[in-house]
Amino acid sequence: MAQLPLFIPVILGTPRQGRQSEAVAKFIVEQIGRREDIETELIDVRTLPIATDDAGEAIKDPGFAAQMERADGLIIVAPEYNHGYPGMLKHVLDTCLKEYIHKAVGICGVSAGSFGGTRVIQNLLPVMRELGLVTIFYDLNFSNVKTLFDESGQLLEPEPQIRRLDRFMQELIWMSSVLRYGRQEMQ
Ligand SMILES: Cc1cc2nc3c(=O)[nH]c(=O)nc-3n(C[C@H](O)[C@H](O)[C@H](O)COP(=O)(O)O)c2cc1C
Repeated sequence: MAQLPLFIPVILGTPRQGRQSEAVAKFIVEQIGRREDIETELIDVRTLPIATDDAGEAIKDPGFAAQMERADGLIIVAPEYNHGYPGMLKHVLDTCLKEYIHKAVGICGVSAGSFGGTRVIQNLLPVMRELGLVTIFYDLNFSNVKTLFDESGQLLEPEPQIRRLDRFMQELIWMSSVLRYGRQEMQ
């Protein structure tokens, strides 16, 4: 049976001015956007019209909710802030719930330090589980991120990152496909 391409948007998880994670998210969107088996979009937490004087599904943005409903999988680009995730990322994720259930997620950690956001990834895992998302067991890590990109946001040495991204996508596509089959075929 012919299948539509998987829809796997990329969530840029910080609104910070001067964020390095933007270059990382754009790199991922640009790379995976070349694939015929995937449709993708950049979702920027900075520009989502989500209120900050309330929390949870009460402030669901219809546009973001529709993207999550349509998604087969997600990529979250999460910079490490004090070993945790940016508050705005959690605030945005908390506005949906049923839209995420039985969908795949891969996490890309970004850090100024040398651990590549491993601690933010670990801290996101219980949140993903509670949202009903299914995490893959391969991550992306951009450590020492300030040294990786030139002024125009291009990776100075793209090959290693492209290889890791291919491996990450292999796993994310497998999980997204299996879960899509399950959502369509199982009650
Ligand atoms: C509030 C805050 C806390 C941070 N905490 C950490 C940290 O715990 N570990 C680390 O490696 N970098 C930390 N950083 C640096 C970020 O990882 C760094 O800015 C990196 O570029 C990714 O974040 P960005 O997308 O906001 O630039 C922190 C940055 C901010 C703004």
